[in-house]
Amino acid sequence: MRKLVYYIACSIDGFIGDPSGDASSMLSLLDPEFLEYLTTEYPDTLPTHGRRPLGIDDLPNKRFDTIIQGRASYDLALKEGITSPYAHLREYVASRTLKESPDPNVEIITEDLVGKIRELKAEDSEFDIYLCGGSQLAGELIDEIDELVVKTYPIVLGSGMPMFGSGTAVHEFTLKSTRTFGNGVLARTYSRKR
Ligand SMILES: NC(=O)c1ccc[n+]([C@@H]2O[C@H](COP(=O)([O-])OP(=O)(O)OC[C@H]3O[C@@H](n4cnc5c(N)ncnc54)[C@H](OP(=O)(O)O)[C@@H]3O)[C@@H](O)[C@H]2O)c1
Repeated sequence: MRKLVYYIACSIDGFIGDPSGDASSMLSLLDPEFLEYLTTEYPDTLPTHGRRPLGIDDLPNKRFDTIIQGRASYDLALKEGITSPYAHLREYVASRTLKESPDPNVEIITEDLVGKIRELKAEDSEFDIYLCGGSQLAGELIDEIDELVVKTYPIVLGSGMPMFGSGTAVHEFTLKSTRTFGNGVLARTYSRKR
């Protein structure tokens, strides 16, 4: 089975953005060392329009071949006129309101979200599935998450959008690796205890 990996940026106090979800306060802390980590270790998670200026737009996929995001997260790209923000991946968007996909590379999941994720995980592929977020989608899929990659930025937001928008159960994970960066970011990888 391939893994569903929730790869996410958050504040020290565990928020993925301000109360509206805006994560730009974290993006402003990108520096060359951290960018090098992102482009070498997780190039697939960079949006297509962000890969071009970095000269990695034709890089073969390294870790993921599929992405799933919630409609609100996808909306951020749509508002910029970008219908396929991760054109180097198979893109899935969960939505009950978007009846038709605005792009041939994007498939909308309207029902049986968990069933579809299980189907994708059962596919024979050397690549994993990138759960991009946001909060609501991650909360709905928490039972399906096999790995967490949490990039904690050295900021406190005080209030904001939580990493998981729903659910109160305890879910146990095992710490697999940590890495620290000069800009104060701490990247931790956890695998699911099954
Ligand atoms: N810090 C980070 O690394 C990071 C990463 C990603 C996103 N974000 C932030 O997260 C924010 C968005 O998060 P969010 O929690 O508001 O929204 P979201 O999870 O991106 O999207 C929520 C939407 O997904 C659809 N959905 C959820 N569950 C579904 C299900 N079971 N079946 C079908 N559709 C389902 C619904 O769309 P419909 O309403 O169309 O039915 C729902 O309104 C953005 O502001 C973004 O900046 C941050």
